[in-house]
Amino acid sequence: MHHPRLLKHVKEVEELKKIAGISACSYVQDGMIIGLGTGSTVKYTIIEIGRKISEENLDIIGVPTSLETKKLAENLNIPLMTIDDIVTVDLTIDGTDEFDPSFNLIKGGGGALTREKIVAKASKSMVVVADSSKQVLTLGSFPLPIEVNLEKWIDVERQISEFCPNDISLRGGKENPFITDNGGVILDANFGPTIIKPRELEEKIGRIQGVVEVGLFVGMCDAVVLASNDEVAILTNPHGRLS
Ligand code: A5P
Repeated sequence: MHHPRLLKHVKEVEELKKIAGISACSYVQDGMIIGLGTGSTVKYTIIEIGRKISEENLDIIGVPTSLETKKLAENLNIPLMTIDDIVTVDLTIDGTDEFDPSFNLIKGGGGALTREKIVAKASKSMVVVADSSKQVLTLGSFPLPIEVNLEKWIDVERQISEFCPNDISLRGGKENPFITDNGGVILDANFGPTIIKPRELEEKIGRIQGVVEVGLFVGMCDAVVLASNDEVAILTNPHGRLS
C-alpha cells in the first residue's frame, strides 16, 4: 500500500511536470520544425503541441527523439519527420535528469540520450522542461547514463571504473539488459555530485572505444522552464541563443 503522504507528493510532482511541459509551449511558433524530447515531463509539451495543431491550426512538424515519443506524437496526429530528412530543427524541447547553474545537463534516464543529443545538436535552440527536483549545484547525483555497444560494455565499464569514484551498473542487469532504440545498452555511472568539468568528462568517456554517447549535454541548453511549488520560472542561459 502507498503511504498517503508519498502519494500526495507523487501527485504534486506530476502536476509540476505538467505545468512545466505546457508552459514551454510559449516558445512554439507557427511554421516551426520542433525536436520532440523524451520523458514524463516533455510528454505534456507534446500533448499541448498536438492540441495546438488540431485546435489552433498551427503548422508544426515534429522530429521525435525516441520510438516512445514517435508513438505518442503519431497518436496525437502531429506531422513527423526524422532527423535524416532535415538539416535544421528550429527548437528542441526536452526533459532533463539534472541541470546545473551553467545550464549543463545530465540526460538519458529514459535511455534516449543518443537520439536526443543528435536532435538537440541540429537545433537552433534547446528549451528544457523540469520540476525543481532536477535543479542541482553540481551534476552527478543522478548516475550518468552512457550508451555503449552491447558487446563492449564489460571493457567500457572497467575503463570508466578507473576514474568513477562509485558504482557503475548495467541498466536492467546482465540477464535482461535494457536495450536502447539503437540496439545499445546503458551503463549508469554514479559519479556523485562531483562533475565540475562536464565537457572534460564527456570527452574523456567519449574517447573510450565502445562508447556510443555520453548523457552530458554541455553548452546546449538555452533556457529551462522550471516548475516549483510557488511558480513557473523561465531561466534563460545568459550565454545561450535565446537571451
Ligand atoms: C530520456 O532519455 C531522458 O533524457 C529524459 O529527457 C530525462 O530522463 C527526463 O525525463 P523525465 O521528464 O521523465 O524526468
